[in-house]
Amino acid sequence: MLDKDIKDLKVLIPEDRIQSKVKELAQQIENMFPSDEDIYVICVLKGSVMFCADLVKYIKGKVRMEFIRISSYGNETKSTNNLQAIDLTLPDLNGKNVIIVEDIIDTGLTAKFLVDLFKIQHKPKTLLFVSLLNKKCARQTKIEPDIYGFEIDDKFVAGYGLDYKGYFRNLPYIGYFPN
Ligand code: IMP
Repeated sequence: MLDKDIKDLKVLIPEDRIQSKVKELAQQIENMFPSDEDIYVICVLKGSVMFCADLVKYIKGKVRMEFIRISSYGNETKSTNNLQAIDLTLPDLNGKNVIIVEDIIDTGLTAKFLVDLFKIQHKPKTLLFVSLLNKKCARQTKIEPDIYGFEIDDKFVAGYGLDYKGYFRNLPYIGYFPN
């Protein structure tokens, strides 16, 4: 049985603020690439499903979407430092413009793993790390996103793709559980 209810979730970032931020980020990204060049957007599942789907809608240009799947939290509300690469299947990205899209950077371990992996294995022309949320205060490794939407405190959040024990990903807003 799930020990938290949607009623316990307090809104942290409402839907309209998320949407206007996503548009802003898309505009920023669009301006960084020549319009005739392919942009490979890598959606890191499952958490960035909502953010990535919305983001690409607002990017005018030659966008190609790819999906990888990583797990780091399991059923916990604290990062387990136990990264599980579930599916990293990708096409040849050598010399391409690549954007890794994440829901949140917390400890930074996932971001570090991905950036190193992409640089070493794929050798893209450009590599951009974009995250909707940035929990700067929880960082355990020296890494920052190139672009992010909102900086948040060290609290566990859910909604808009982010889950608590597999639930709440479908919510259009981001919330937290007050103690
Ligand atoms: P990191 O490796 O600790 O930076 O964590 C990255 C991943 O952990 C994210 O992609 C999320 O899937 C998950 N995560 C981190 N913080 C939260 C949170 O507050 N709520 C839900 N998932 C989170």
